[in-house]
Amino acid sequence: MAKESKKVLVLFAHPSQRRSEVNMPLFKAAKLVEGVTAVDLYGEYPDYHIDIDREQKRLLEHDVVVFQYPLYWYSTPSILKEWQDLVLEYGFAYGSSGTALHGKYFMCAITAGGKEEAYKADGYNHFKIRELLTPLEQMANLTGMQFLAPFALFGSRTALEEGKVGRHAESYRKLLKALVEGEVDFDKAIKSEKITSNNIGDVLKESVL
Ligand SMILES: Cc1cc2nc3c(=O)[nH]c(=O)nc-3n(C[C@H](O)[C@H](O)[C@H](O)COP(=O)(O)O)c2cc1C
Repeated sequence: MAKESKKVLVLFAHPSQRRSEVNMPLFKAAKLVEGVTAVDLYGEYPDYHIDIDREQKRLLEHDVVVFQYPLYWYSTPSILKEWQDLVLEYGFAYGSSGTALHGKYFMCAITAGGKEEAYKADGYNHFKIRELLTPLEQMANLTGMQFLAPFALFGSRTALEEGKVGRHAESYRKLLKALVEGEVDFDKAIKSEKITSNNIGDVLKESVL
């Protein structure tokens, strides 16, 4: 049986790209994956004048939407909020006739300065990473998209000096390729708490491992 291939849209947001040690290599990896459309939101909209029609058209043309960003104050860099506020319009993304995104998948690819063990009830960040993404999960629910567990790198500030960036970029490439090729186990990806370079094998089908 022919594999069902998916079109993946990566919406990347980093306001300070010359200082980025992790997201830039990740974005570079994303751009090289066939079937992935990689959009640099700050690059395209430095003045925040987001072209709503163009962004809605992009959404219609893709099956999987990925927000790639560094975690900033437990949230997204501001342009991703602006993008949501403007692009996910009533009648397009929600409301009785707003069904444009129904059946798509949504995922966050995030980097966090905090250590993995800090993201739990008794850690200093008190919440699990997926809990902190609750508004985005509910955004996906309301717009009819399936929310996949976040792909995350923790301890991102020291990842370069610890030699962890290359491995994570390779995991990201593998994950995006698997999304394109329908080689992700979506049931597992929906139920997982998070996807990291350590457990990525759990959500990929055996054929791509
Ligand atoms: C304004 C700002 C807010 C941040 N907030 C968080 C945060 O809430 N949680 C966290 O773990 N790291 C936080 N960080 C650390 C960033 O997530 C980290 O610097 C980034 O993931 C590194 O990726 P980069 O090398 O691509 O910039 C913050 C950094 C900045 C500059």
